Amino acid sequence: MSFDPELCRNESEVESKLIVQYLLPKLGYSPDTWYQEVSFESIRLDFLAFAKPVVPFVWEGNLPLSILIEAKHPSINLNIHVHRLRHYLKSLNVRYGLLTNGKEIRIYESSKYDIQQVFQCSGKEVNTRLDEIKALIGRDSLQQEKTKIYSEISPLQNNLILSKDISNHTCTEKRQNTMKTIAIYHHKGGVGKTTVSVNLAAALSKRGKRVLLIDIDAQANTTFATGLIKFQFDEDDNLKNRNVYHLLESTKYEHNFIPGIVKKSHCFNQPEIDVIPSHISLIARQQELITSSASRWRLSKKLDQVKSDYDIVIIDTPPSLDLYAQAALTAADYLIIPSDLKSFSNQGLVSVKNFIAQEIAETKEGVGKPDIIIMGVLPSKISTNSQYLKHTYIKHKSLISERYNLPLMDSMISERTALSKCIHKTFPMGNLDIPDPKSILDYAKKEPEANVSAAEFEALAMEVLEKMEMQ
Ligand SMILES: Nc1ncnc2c1ncn2[C@@H]1O[C@H](COP(=O)(O)OP(=O)(O)O)[C@@H](O)[C@H]1O
Ligand SMILES: [Mg+2]
Repeated sequence: MSFDPELCRNESEVESKLIVQYLLPKLGYSPDTWYQEVSFESIRLDFLAFAKPVVPFVWEGNLPLSILIEAKHPSINLNIHVHRLRHYLKSLNVRYGLLTNGKEIRIYESSKYDIQQVFQCSGKEVNTRLDEIKALIGRDSLQQEKTKIYSEISPLQNNLILSKDISNHTCTEKRQNTMKTIAIYHHKGGVGKTTVSVNLAAALSKRGKRVLLIDIDAQANTTFATGLIKFQFDEDDNLKNRNVYHLLESTKYEHNFIPGIVKKSHCFNQPEIDVIPSHISLIARQQELITSSASRWRLSKKLDQVKSDYDIVIIDTPPSLDLYAQAALTAADYLIIPSDLKSFSNQGLVSVKNFIAQEIAETKEGVGKPDIIIMGVLPSKISTNSQYLKHTYIKHKSLISERYNLPLMDSMISERTALSKCIHKTFPMGNLDIPDPKSILDYAKKEPEANVSAAEFEALAMEVLEKMEMQ
């Protein structure tokens, strides 16, 4: 029996005629080895096939040799689904993914930090190229790969995949890496600090890193964006007496230390991340802290106490040169400076550099911490206009190193409405709109256009890990 792509006029015909009737049997998968419409938490897969029969199917957190198959309508461009396939393969730790709309068939293989396309053909060619497909993802070939897969498993920490073997592997990996703290800082407001902080934290946590996100801006936008401000009335405010201020304040009470303050983000990202919330009262209370120089380095010291609990700490900072900015930068090993690269923002870069070279360097020396490493200026909120990207953007980028003598990051974050929509998402409850913010990576599942932004944050996460030598 051969396959004719003309027979597939919709998604369900791609599923039945190409996958169920043709590919799965030709690749050696008997009906007891594959499942249709498999769900894990928020992930819904079209097909999951295993090299060994698994009846009944129970996901035990083990790593069966499996292939994940996603079928799309013939009119759909497969490019827009690659991001989602990457997310599925990485979250579930599955090695191969097949993506098809009947007209085109692609196979992707998961590598340590990304996925690579390893095969592509048109629907018409599938009959003649079946041997190549079999060699990659046929049941026999997958079984032979067993040893290889177990020895190369990436250290993703995901509650779906923590088998005994893998969790041991993960622990070894963690002990080798010491916790790294990154401040996301620019002296100017509105450049995307909060947007970068929350979504970078989400992307790193999806890569299996244990992330702590600290909000030290009185605007508390990160606290809001991670779903921790759902209350409508002051009397329900559960953050007033438990927030980042208390870490800077003193060491008298339990709530003066990270474990006494930290909260899990709420319906923000899978996996959720640990957050130190901020509060509007930080503005009024700064005066109480200013008299004590210890308030500038207490955060740094308290982070030292949890260094075996987290891999990466991200600090979202205020657009100022105040005590809170000093506390954040004193605690940070690395600095990312998001900037729209416009003239006004660039002028702020000079004071960022001076602030770091003078005040921060002095406080760091006082507590015996090495100087902050500037990871780079991160182009953020960059217009997607092609003329801008071709001409002005290139010039803007070159100014960063030439005029300001600062490194530029390879990644960039484009200006896309999805990035503000995901933070301001709500759900209705009676007459009220309850905030329901999402990370761009989880929001992208609902709005396919958001995939590009999600992919930009995944690329940023990879660059950050690479620069901190934490791969
Ligand atoms: N890349 C982007 N694309 C579109 N809107 C963005 C982007 N980054 C930030 N924004 C929006 O711009 C505003 C300021 O961003 P924010 O991250 O809060 O900046 P900051 O923390 O530096 O003040 C917010 O409304 C946010 O939703
Ligand atoms: Mg902000």
